[in-house]
Amino acid sequence: MFKKNIWDFWADKYESLWVQKYSLGPTRKAIINSLLPILKKNKKYKILDMGCGTGQLLRELQSNFYDFDIEYMGVDASSNMIDIARTKDVKTTYYTCSIEELKVSIEEFDIIFCSHSFPYYLEKDKAVDKFHSLLKKDGILFLAQASANSVYDTFAMFFVKFTTSKATYPSINSLLTLTKGKFIKMYIVKIKEQFYMPTIALFILKKEVTK
Ligand SMILES: C[S@@+](CC[C@H](N)C(=O)[O-])C[C@H]1O[C@@H](n2cnc3c(N)ncnc32)[C@H](O)[C@@H]1O
Repeated sequence: MFKKNIWDFWADKYESLWVQKYSLGPTRKAIINSLLPILKKNKKYKILDMGCGTGQLLRELQSNFYDFDIEYMGVDASSNMIDIARTKDVKTTYYTCSIEELKVSIEEFDIIFCSHSFPYYLEKDKAVDKFHSLLKKDGILFLAQASANSVYDTFAMFFVKFTTSKATYPSINSLLTLTKGKFIKMYIVKIKEQFYMPTIALFILKKEVTK
């Protein structure tokens, strides 16, 4: 029972957890820095944050890109996370829904973020397919996750798993294999704020369109 509702359990403490300092906060910063050269002021954007938690990234995007024309949507499987997100941010449309249950519309979003949520998805290949369908032509996926690339990363993530729902952390190569044929790698940012933290990889992937 505890495991099933673990994200509901963490929701009201989430923004003060120590991982904010060395993992979640630096990831949001890397996402915003990577987005800066991509967004254009004379264009309208529709953005989805899948597994948005309490909506911190969406709020930070709003303050960094306040003069851009952006419509925001946040989706998360935890209703407690979404309740908190809604109280802190009235500009974003929030939904409680898991990626597995998400009904996919076609080519709706210009950009999708999936930050520290992908390791918990039960069917990762289907999630990649959904991201592909949801993105417009030229759409971009920002996928960030702790990535098991070394014996140390695997060891560190083994202990993290006790505090989260069931997780698997694909290595950089496995993630690229998983997204092959659907996404083209633009670049990868590696985040390691402290030597004892596992490597976090931020993948910036462009939708591949087959002609
Ligand atoms: C570590 S938190 C990350 C939250 C936020 N994206 C961030 O970077 O701080 C993981 C989030 O993924 C959500 N999550 C886990 N499995 C999910 C699923 N199958 N579908 C949608 N959200 C899921 C959890 O509810 C939780 O809010």
